[in-house]
Amino acid sequence: MVCSPSGSAFSHHQEGCGVERGYLRLVEMPRYTLPTVVVLQMVTVGGFEDWLGHTISVKSRFCACRIAVLEFYLLWSSLCYNDNEEYRIGKIIGTLTSSHNWLLRTKTFQDERYKEREIMEQTIKFPVVNLSKLNGEERDQTMALINDACENWGFFEIVNHGLPYDLMDNVEKMTKEHYKKTMEQKFNDMLKSKGLEKLETEVEDVDWESTFYLRHLPQSNLYDIPDMSDEYRTAMKDFGKRLENLAENLLDQLCENLGLEKGYLKKMFHGTKGPSFGTKVSNYPPCPKPEMIKGLRAHTDAGGIILLFQDDKVSGLQLLKDGDWIDVPPLNHSIVINLGDQLEVITNGKYKSVMHRVVTQKEGNRMSIASFYNPGSDAEISPASSLASKETEYPSFVFDDYMKLYAGVKFQPKEPRFEAMRNATAVTELNPAASVETF
Ligand code: OGA
Ligand code: NI
Repeated sequence: MVCSPSGSAFSHHQEGCGVERGYLRLVEMPRYTLPTVVVLQMVTVGGFEDWLGHTISVKSRFCACRIAVLEFYLLWSSLCYNDNEEYRIGKIIGTLTSSHNWLLRTKTFQDERYKEREIMEQTIKFPVVNLSKLNGEERDQTMALINDACENWGFFEIVNHGLPYDLMDNVEKMTKEHYKKTMEQKFNDMLKSKGLEKLETEVEDVDWESTFYLRHLPQSNLYDIPDMSDEYRTAMKDFGKRLENLAENLLDQLCENLGLEKGYLKKMFHGTKGPSFGTKVSNYPPCPKPEMIKGLRAHTDAGGIILLFQDDKVSGLQLLKDGDWIDVPPLNHSIVINLGDQLEVITNGKYKSVMHRVVTQKEGNRMSIASFYNPGSDAEISPASSLASKETEYPSFVFDDYMKLYAGVKFQPKEPRFEAMRNATAVTELNPAASVETF
C-alpha cells in the first residue's frame, strides 16, 4: 500500500492507510540557515510495524522521491540520538539526494508520477529572495532574481526583510487568539447558515475563510474595529507601518529593474490623498472535505503590491504557473510578495499579476495576513511611457473605476477587465455579480 500526498506538497498523512500510529511531517526551514531545504521530520507516537513494507513520498526542495519506510526508519534511527538538528537534517537530505539513490528514485518517481514531479520541480524553483543581500556584494544578482520573479512568477518570497521576528511572532500569536476568541464561532455559524456542514457537492460561490479588514491609509480604521485588544491593535499598527515602508522600498526596487526613476510607482499610486493601504486578516479553518470547497477561489489581486505573512506550518496558497497549481511553501518569518493588476498595467504587461488560490486542508488552521499597497482611489493609472509600445495594449483609467468593476468580477479572468477598461462602455457588459469586499 502506498500513501499518496494529500493536496499539499508539505504535509503527508497516512490517509487511507488505516494507521493511526504516527505521521510524517515536512517542515520548512529558513533558507538562510539551510539553503533550499524542506526538512523531513518524523513524529512518532507508536510503533512502525504497520508502516514497514510501505513506501512514502518524500518531497523536499532537493528531491522528490519514494523511499521505503523501512529504509527511512533505519536512516532516521541512526541519527535521532544526535542532538544537533542541523547535522541530522543535513545527513538525511544528503542521503536522500546522494547521486546513486537520487537517480534511481527519480526514475521510479518519473515513471509513476511524471506530472507530479514536474510540479515539484517548479515548487523547488519558487523564488526566495534574501533582501539583506541588496546591501552587499550580491546586490546585482538579487535585483536580477527579483526581476525574474516579477517577469515569470508574479510572486516571490522574501527573507531577511528587516521586520523584527518577535513582532511577527506576536502578531501571529495574537491573530490566532483573536480568531479563537471572536471569529471561530461566527465562522461555524456561517457554515450552518449557508448549509456548508455536509459539503456533499462542490461549492463554487463561497470561500472557506474567516476574515476581517484593517485599513491603514489614507485613514486608519484600526480603532473602529470591535473586539481587538489594545495590545493587538498596537502590534498591528506597528506591523502595518513597517510593511508600508517595506512595500515602498520594494516598489523602488521594481522601478530600478524597470528603468523607471526612483519614486515613479509611489507617485503614480499617490493620487490626491496618497496610496490605499490595508490588511486582510484571514484564517482558513480545517475543512472536512477539501475537494469540495476552496479556502479562497482563484483570482488575481486588483491593486499594486501585496505582502503576505502566512502561517509557517499549514500550507494552502497556490499560484498558477504554466497551467499547474504550484504551492507557495510556508517559510518561517518570510513575507510572500505578489503583484496586482495595476503593476501589470503600468509595466504594460512586462510584469504580470498571477492567478492564485487557497486550498483547504483537513487538518490545521491556516493564518494569513495579506497587506495590500494600492493606488489611492483617484490615482490615474496608465502604462509608463517608457514601457509602452507603439500600440499600447493596456488601458488608462482612474483606479476607483477599476475597483468598482473588480468587486463584481474578482473571480473571473483579468483580461476581460482590461478589455472593459479600454472600452469604458463595455464595463456593464461584464455583468458584475454580487460585489465582494476587497481591497
Ligand atoms: C487574497 C489572497 C491569500 C492568502 O486575499 O487576495 O490571495 O493566503 N490571500 O490568504
Ligand atoms: Ni489574492
